[in-house]
Amino acid sequence: MKKRTARLSRRLFLKKTALTSAIIAFSGLLLAALRTLIPSQSAGKTRLHIGRLADFPLDSFTLLRDAQLYIYRDHEGVKAVSAVCTHLGCLLEQSTDGFQCPCHGSHFDDQGRVLSGPAPRSLAWFKVTTDIDGRLVVDTKTRVGADDKQIIAQANSSRVKNLT
Ligand code: FES
Repeated sequence: MKKRTARLSRRLFLKKTALTSAIIAFSGLLLAALRTLIPSQSAGKTRLHIGRLADFPLDSFTLLRDAQLYIYRDHEGVKAVSAVCTHLGCLLEQSTDGFQCPCHGSHFDDQGRVLSGPAPRSLAWFKVTTDIDGRLVVDTKTRVGADDKQIIAQANSSRVKNLT
């Protein structure tokens, strides 16, 4: 009788251990799955040195993945828009008419306005200036309008002049 109780007890122990292991494994998988739905946002510097004017092709947006910015350059200068979706913070991809979010499908036009949600608001545009060496600096603490360009115009081929 005592031997049978010990066997039952061991069997119960093994069942509980297996159940606990299964719960832990499932929890890990669940957390990993949830983590993909809520991407991280970079917290960091607010003055970002992004390079020189010549680093950015004309009439196009260039993604700076680490800075989470799209930099637009045209014949007048440069401007910077957030590459972070205003829904849950995924990094946006370029689309034919602006930007799209790979996470939940929000669309933004090339001015950063929401074309379709669930994104609740437009993308942020940030002030662009130059430092003393003529390198471009994005100030992510200072917002500007998409039309209200903070433009850096190229005065001549060798010098960049800040018009802001
Ligand atoms: Fe949800 Fe972009 S993070 S739509």
